Parts: sequence; C-alpha cells; structure tokens
Amino acid sequence: MERYNYGMVGLGVMGRNLLYNIADNGFSIAGFDLDEEKVNELEEGATSTMKVKGIGSLEDFVAALESPRKIILMVPAGKPVDAVLENITPLLSKGDIVIDAGNSYFEDTNRRIADLGSKNLHFMGMGVSGGEKGARTGPSIMPGGDLEAFNLLQPMLEAIAAKVDNEACTAYMGKGSAGNYVKMVHNGIEYAIMQLISEAYDLLKRGAKLNNDQLYEVFREWNNGEMNSFLIEITRDIFQQKDTFTDQYLIDQILDKAGAKGTGKWTSEQAMEIGVSIPTIDIAVTSRILSAYKEERVQASQLYPKAEIATPENTDQFIKEVGDALYLATLISYAQGLALLVKASEEYNFEIPLKDVVKIWRGGCIIRSVLLEKFYTAYTKDPNLSNILLDADIAAIVKEKIGSLRKTAAFAVSSGVSGLGLQTALGYFDAYTTEYLPINLIQAQRDYFGAHTYQRLDREGVFHTSWQSVNQ
Ligand code: 6PG
Repeated sequence: MERYNYGMVGLGVMGRNLLYNIADNGFSIAGFDLDEEKVNELEEGATSTMKVKGIGSLEDFVAALESPRKIILMVPAGKPVDAVLENITPLLSKGDIVIDAGNSYFEDTNRRIADLGSKNLHFMGMGVSGGEKGARTGPSIMPGGDLEAFNLLQPMLEAIAAKVDNEACTAYMGKGSAGNYVKMVHNGIEYAIMQLISEAYDLLKRGAKLNNDQLYEVFREWNNGEMNSFLIEITRDIFQQKDTFTDQYLIDQILDKAGAKGTGKWTSEQAMEIGVSIPTIDIAVTSRILSAYKEERVQASQLYPKAEIATPENTDQFIKEVGDALYLATLISYAQGLALLVKASEEYNFEIPLKDVVKIWRGGCIIRSVLLEKFYTAYTKDPNLSNILLDADIAAIVKEKIGSLRKTAAFAVSSGVSGLGLQTALGYFDAYTTEYLPINLIQAQRDYFGAHTYQRLDREGVFHTSWQSVNQ
C-alpha cells in the first residue's frame, strides 16, 4: 500500500494551499477534511507531478501515512483543534507527530503537548504567516516545541518556506509553545503597523487632501525605498482597486469597522500579564474595538463638530514627514513586540532565538519589511539585546526620524485627526528614553493613601512615611 510522507487535516484555503506547496516540493501528502467536497476537489486542483490524495475517512487517512506519522492540522484555533485531537489520537502510534499550524493560543498548546506527551505522541505548535498566497508559494514558518520532532520536519519546512538571500524563512523558535507565542506577537506587531498605516492614510487624505491616485503614488514611492514592506505594498495596490458595484474606488465604499480574530488581544493580555510595555500594540487593539461603535461615533461627530483641517503649507514636505513618522513608529512597534518576546522567553523558559525570529520574518510573513534586515544585523552583534532601541545603528535611524514623528503627531493633535498609534509610539519612546520619570509622585501617593511603601534614590531599603495633611 502506498504510504504518504505527510498528512494534512483541514482542507480550507490555507490547508489546501500549504498541502500543494508541500507536494510541489517533492513530498507526498494525504489530505483529510470532514467536508467531502473538499476531499474530492483536492486531487483535481493538483498538478501531475504532485503526489497528493484526498481521503474522507480519518481511519484510512491515518493508515495511509508512513511512520512516524507527521500530521499537520490547519483548522480554526480553539475547540476544532481539540475535536480533531480527540478523534485522531486513538488512531496514532508511539512517536507520531501532530503539528498545529493554526493561530492557537500558546497555553492551549502547552496543555496539548502534555496531553499527547502522556500518550507518547509529539505535539508541536507552529505559526504560519503569509495568508493564502504565502501558504501556497512560501510562508514564514515558526515551529517550536519538541526538538526531535522538529528535526524530522526541518527539511520539508525549509523546502516550502519563503526564501530571502537563498535562506529559508523558518527556524526553530524555542521550547514548548514558543512557535505559537512568536506567531501571536507577530500578529500583535501586524495590528500596530496596520493601525499606523491607517493613520498615515488619514493624515494624507484629510490633512494633505490627497486623492486615491495620489495616495497610490505616495505608497508606491515609499514601497520603492526604505519602507519597502508587504503591508505598504498591499496598501499601494488598495488605492487603485475599483469597485464592482459602483464606478468608484473600492476603498471609499468600505465600512470603517474593523474585525479581529483575537491574536492582537492575546498579545496585549500577555504583555500585561508578564509586565511588558507595548502601548502601540495595545492601542491598535483598542482602536479596532472603538471603530465598532460606528453609530455612537456618528452621533458624537454631530455633537462635537470639528473645525476644518488646515492643509499643510508644503505638501511634499508633509508627505516626507508623515513617511518618516510612519517608518519610526513602525520601528518602535517592532521594538515593543520584540521586547515582549525577550521577557516571555525568560518567563516561560522558551529560549527564543531573537536573531532567528527577525531573520525568518524578513520574508513570507505579513510583517516582512526591509527594516528587519537592520534588526537582524543588530541581533547578530548582540543576541541578548533587551530592546532594539538600544542598538547604536538603530539609534542613528531613530535620531534622524524623531523630529518628523513629533511634527506629524503634533499635526494630528492640533487638527483633531486621531493619531493614537503615532502618539503612543512617540509617548513610549519619550518615556523609555527618560532617565527620571515622574513616577516618584505616584509612589508618594500610593504610600500616602495606602502605606504601599517606596524605595529611595539615595539609599537601599523600603520606606514608609506618615504623610502630613497640610490643612489638618
Ligand atoms: C498571517 C496573518 C493571519 C491572519 C490574522 C488576521 O500572519 O498570515 O496574521 O494569521 O490574517 O489572523 O487577524 P485578525 O483577523 O485578527 O485581523
């Protein structure tokens, strides 16, 4: 009987595309889905050189895989993963490997590692980024967990991943659920960058009064230079997309309410949980929440009408400043996300190799950008860098752009355009680079009303004062 190298459970767009990518690279693979139609369509969509098979029975699917079985799950995070595991684990044998390639919560992965481990099975959490197209042509792949299992998968992962300078955009992300954690933070950064781009768009549209054709030109130029990245590139294209219902540009017909599947929120929750400051990611999450109050926003906009936004005097200079502000705020968002990974690595004993994280984010994933090349250089110099802003070469970039971020944030503030992401990136930078914060006053207040104690600048120890009310 013919045995397949790999198995894929879940033949939705992502699962099917990843399966074809694996098959394209010379590995045979069987696919299973509860939806019979998806199973039947699988072979029709394959090319003649691919060895793929759709199998509609889970028992037959498992039996068709070579040992140790290597089964990739591409099903929605949460209950569907547990449902698949409940059905499939009784059919597996010692040493088999189950790889969850969805956006699963890392704590769920920890639970599943322990559960399958007790049955002598390997369970791995593996982040995959790049959307449908990336899955088919080369995503960025973030596997973590059992090293023995990873070593068996590595040749396939390297074959199917995106390549930058001939190097595969995949690497071992660390122990336990590190793969899912790194992907979660990737998505948190993705939320922040998308928020910042939307603010730059708002400033150019309502401030500089650019139309969609002009916006296309600006983003085209940005993408051709140091801001080259996937998100800038697709934004460029969005401004040229015509609507099919009207003869307008599609962007102007889209309702301003953002959806979210939860990975951004998890990133913020995690940062709060382990004590890492990531305000630009937090604000991106909460901005999506705020966007959903459409009806209230309409009401409030009538109650609080705004003055007309004054057009900046020099449009070209304004565009340049907004571009530099976006570039720097994006850099600061990466800095926050990477700082979260540093702390999480210690906290959860993941041993995340930061240098490899930025290396494999250079291609294939949604947050790929040429900026990551600079981070890669920084981590090559110092793999233990606690914050990317502390690198001397990065500092030189920051110093060059900080004036533009200040001017752009000030323009937003004075004209009533909400620039929450830009402002928090700047606020984070200003707080992070301040030797002496006004938090001494917060400590005094805490001690005043709650005897919470404080530490001193001039001597060791913990102190409490009987604060005197002046009007006593
Ligand atoms: C990726 C994306 C992918 C997905 C997000 C969207 O890296 O390929 O991040 O995982 O598109 O989950 O997230 P929201 O629906 O929460 O915006």
